[in-house]
Formats: sequence, C-alpha cells, structure tokens
Amino acid sequence: MAPAIPNLKLNSGHDMPQVGFGLWKVDNAVCADVVYNAIKTGYRLLDGACDYGNEKECGEGVARAIKDGLVKREELFIVSKLWPTFQDPEQVEPVVKRQLADWGIDHFDLYLMHFPGALKFVDPSVRYPPGWHHDGKSQIVKSKTTIQDTWRAMESLVDAGLAKSIGISNFQAQLIYDMLRYARIPPATLQVEHHPYLVQQELVNLVKSEGIQMTAYSTFGPASFLEFGFKHAEKLVPLMQDPVIQKIADKHSKKPSQVLLRWVTQRGIAVIPKSTRVEIMAENIECCSFDLDEDDINQISSKDANIRFNQPHNYFETDKMWIFG
Ligand SMILES: NC(=O)c1ccc[n+]([C@@H]2O[C@H](COP(=O)([O-])OP(=O)(O)OC[C@H]3O[C@@H](n4cnc5c(N)ncnc54)[C@H](OP(=O)(O)O)[C@@H]3O)[C@@H](O)[C@H]2O)c1
Repeated sequence: MAPAIPNLKLNSGHDMPQVGFGLWKVDNAVCADVVYNAIKTGYRLLDGACDYGNEKECGEGVARAIKDGLVKREELFIVSKLWPTFQDPEQVEPVVKRQLADWGIDHFDLYLMHFPGALKFVDPSVRYPPGWHHDGKSQIVKSKTTIQDTWRAMESLVDAGLAKSIGISNFQAQLIYDMLRYARIPPATLQVEHHPYLVQQELVNLVKSEGIQMTAYSTFGPASFLEFGFKHAEKLVPLMQDPVIQKIADKHSKKPSQVLLRWVTQRGIAVIPKSTRVEIMAENIECCSFDLDEDDINQISSKDANIRFNQPHNYFETDKMWIFG
C-alpha cells in the first residue's frame, strides 16, 4: 500500500502533498513510464516545467495511469513552471495553454514563475523549450517586463481557472517582500534549492512568517549536478556518504537519502525527489515514516556552507546573468 503523504495547506486554500516527484532530467524516452511508475508507487504531486522538455511524455504517463484506474485526475497535484522567455504578460496565457495541452489537462494545481527576470520572447516555432539564450547559443537578451507585470498575468491564470494556485521559484528575500506589497494573489509557494550545503535559514524563516509554503529542490545537493561536471560539486563529500548523515541513518535504521529528505520535511518544507529507479522512488516516498531527533536536525543543519549549484553561470559563461548575486 502506498504510504500516507502529509498535506501542506496553501494560502490559496488548497492542499499540497508534502512529498512529490521531480521531473527534471527525466529522458523523453522513459518519461511516460517513469511518471506512470511514480504514480503507481504513490506519488501524487508531479513537478514539471516547460524547460524540462518532457511535458508531453509526462502527460502520456498521467493519461495511462488514469486509464488503468491507478488514480483520478482530481487526486493528482500537477505543478509546472513559466520559463523567463514567456514572462511578457501577453505570452503567459498562450504558453500555459500549450503546456496544459502537452500534459492533456485543463488546469495546473500549481504554476510557478521558474526564475525571476524576464528574457526576450522566443517563439515556440523557433525553439521549444527555448532555454536561456535568445539565439540558442550564447546571447542573453533581457525583456523590459517587470516581475509585477508578469505576476498580474499569473494572477489572471487563477481567474481564468488555468491554475488553482500560483507561486515562485528561485526568488530571494527582497523580491518576495516587494511582491507581497503588490500581489492581489500572494504566492502560495516558493521553490528553491535547499540541502545541507545550502540551508538559507533566513529565507525559510521569511516564507514561514509570510504564510508561503516552501518546496526544496535538489535535496541531495551535489548528486544532481555531477553530470554537468561542476568542479565544486565533485570536490564535496556526497551527502549520502557523509559520515554524520550515515550515522544518523544507522541510528534510525534508514537510508541516508531518507534522512536527508526527512531533515527537510520535518521542518515543514515540501520535497520533490527525482529518481528513474522504481525501488528508489519507493524509498524516497517513505521519508515521512520516522522522526529525527532535534540534535540530528541541528547536526545536519550545521553542514551549511552556502554552496549553490543551480545558477545560470554554473552552466555557461556569462557576464549578464547573476540571479543570486
Ligand atoms: N525550480 C527549479 O529551478 C528547479 C531546479 C532543480 C530541480 N527542480 C525540481 O526538483 C526536482 C528534484 O531535484 P533534482 O532533479 O535536482 O534531483 P534530486 O532529487 O536531488 O536527485 C538527484 C539525483 O539523485 C539520484 N537519487 C534520487 N534519490 C536517490 C536515492 N534515494 N538514493 C540514491 N540516489 C538517488 C537520482 O538519480 P536516478 O534517477 O538515477 O535515481 C537523481 O538524479 C527536479 O526533478 C525538479 O522537478 C527545480
């Protein structure tokens, strides 16, 4: 039987499962099967994005799971994201409709601005997903659209029934404080990189105090970034082999991966681990079935080294993109 997953209450009034399934870097060739297996394992939240380039295949997996009676659409919580090249207000609804069509659904349960800072529109007939570069190679071209203008268009998605809740990703404190002054609909969630090497405790405190739920991505830290050859990821002790985390895992008869996920969920934050392996999917979803001691949590938190992996200039050379500066 699938494990019970706690819900987090969003400021929009909707419930969001605290443990979901991540879809970044899931190959198109296996994606429909991976999504089907994730649903079969018990995941109900699916975390997708235009940029992952696999929304059609995600939709195929969902459709097959519904057809086979594993789940009903209303039991799923489907998340997607608005890429920066679609942040000009007039581009928001058309791209959301395209993404919904790819998924084969009529609304997203949560739709996030993927990163702050609009980039010049790239027509989907030229390239989709567009990526960071206007020419598909090296040019970063900014749009003059403000975040406030994009957020108005995000709010219209809720009015139109295309998204039940809206939120943000990769935003930091100052933008959030500003947004809360103009938002008619406040962001329901903030999705950020969060692991023991990048704790961002003040950001956690901020969203909690403002009634915004946080979702942690890349919970296993460097593990997700080794394939890009990031030198600073290679130099670090892999978190799943860290002696402190290993010792805590042994104490609770759990895997280090489950300890890393529980360190997040026990502090009231949602997780969205990704794995293409069915046995690992099953392990990860079990991460709310035990409790860490306060001392365990503090020991893990004390690993904080303010090391961020997911930022544009780690992927490509640029003098124009310093989102976390
Ligand atoms: N908003 C954003 O900008 C943003 C950025 C990054 C990620 N995300 C979201 O967050 C999700 C999760 O982050 P992530 O994809 O970076 O990866 P992650 O969940 O940190 O996992 C990293 C890698 O670890 C492996 N793994 C997973 N569970 C494991 C376990 N229990 N034991 C051993 N290895 C394990 C997986 O490989 P295998 O598949 O081989 O098992 C995976 O590739 C993404 O899929 C995406 O939905 C959002």
